[in-house]
Amino acid sequence: MSVKAGLIGVGPVGDRIVRCLKERNFPLAQRLKVAATWARTEILADEEFKIFPLDVTHFEESLEFFKNLDVVFFAGREGARGASITWALPAIERYDCYCIDNGSDFRLDPKVPLVVPEVNMDQVTTDTRLIASPNCSTTQMVVVLWPLHKAAGIKRVVVSTYQSVSGWGGAAQKQFCKELSRLIEQGRVDNCDPSIFPRPIALDCIPHIDRFLSNGYTKEEMKLVHETRRIMSLPNLQVSATAVRVPVEIGHSLSINVEFERSLDAEEAMAILRDPIKSPGIVVIDGPTNDPNAIAVRNAPQELQYPTQADVLQENWKNVVLVGRIRDDNTVEHGLNLWCVSDNLRKGAATNVVQIAEGMIEHGILGT
Ligand SMILES: NC(=O)c1ccc[n+]([C@@H]2O[C@H](COP(=O)([O-])OP(=O)(O)OC[C@H]3O[C@@H](n4cnc5c(N)ncnc54)[C@H](OP(=O)(O)O)[C@@H]3O)[C@@H](O)[C@H]2O)c1
Repeated sequence: MSVKAGLIGVGPVGDRIVRCLKERNFPLAQRLKVAATWARTEILADEEFKIFPLDVTHFEESLEFFKNLDVVFFAGREGARGASITWALPAIERYDCYCIDNGSDFRLDPKVPLVVPEVNMDQVTTDTRLIASPNCSTTQMVVVLWPLHKAAGIKRVVVSTYQSVSGWGGAAQKQFCKELSRLIEQGRVDNCDPSIFPRPIALDCIPHIDRFLSNGYTKEEMKLVHETRRIMSLPNLQVSATAVRVPVEIGHSLSINVEFERSLDAEEAMAILRDPIKSPGIVVIDGPTNDPNAIAVRNAPQELQYPTQADVLQENWKNVVLVGRIRDDNTVEHGLNLWCVSDNLRKGAATNVVQIAEGMIEHGILGT
């Protein structure tokens, strides 16, 4: 089985897609073809790639990029002039290739499945051509909620996110690093590029991700509502979200409060989440720590262990969702609180799209 694949976009997500394809031995039939807005060479995953230019003023020549490709991973920008809106549908029409999109343009289109393989890979069929991958926070949240929903039926979710700067693209990551060096050199950061973040991010948390909507929520917060409902096929699920940008380079954390239809206590939830068959893609880091240094530092033998954003950079945890702080919420009849963390560039984006393609190969949809 082998697949001719292409990639659009060479930002942090594009780079991670190349890494995932290599690390997971994705069966490429030929060298990955890579495109962006202008021609040059780029190093992705420590390898040099010649970048094919996609330019609407040379539409026909640009469309040739898709010729003979089985699948194209989209990691470009969103919006009317973005990669997916400009190229995905014309490419499908002309060359009948599969397009798997990291961006938000088609996530709520009823004709386009929004897929997290641990939850709803069955939404992709032989008739599907365009597949959307969710927002980075939604992806990790549904991986955790789905096995709990199967056990006790979820009624309501209240989530607060702690999202790293890389979630806003490569330029935001650079801006953060620039602010950090200004902080070290000058002791303060008093200006920023408002086209990236509304305020300096280096020593602050900003409860404002993407633009504000007329209901007072941000677009990012409403993505958590609408995308969660779609992926879990629960159109009436109650979801209330607050999304916060924090001064962390990579990795998003979520504090999640869940209310269930039926009884599910913390111990039962922990057993479900620790079961790799019931809860694929999850590692639970909870319970008493066996790290002698942690006990010495905190001077508390019963101190519990938990995951943080730094943990998702570890080799064995970079493609999974880490879960901890699982505890009963005694303020409602059947309630739980938990904390989860994942790499927004990996499971929140690149890993998820590569897993979708792998699932399509497994189901005989993709590859010859
Ligand atoms: N960062 C995350 O945590 C995350 C998580 C989930 C989903 N996503 C989504 O994944 C996508 C990529 O994210 P990123 O952080 O890697 O973005 P990024 O740093 O802004 O990089 C975007 C890349 O896409 C290319 N591009 C933009 N418009 C294009 C067009 N019309 N045609 C062809 N190429 C185009 C750019 O080309 P040039 O280099 O030539 O300018 C650039 O290489 C975005 O849609 C984002 O919303 C990101």
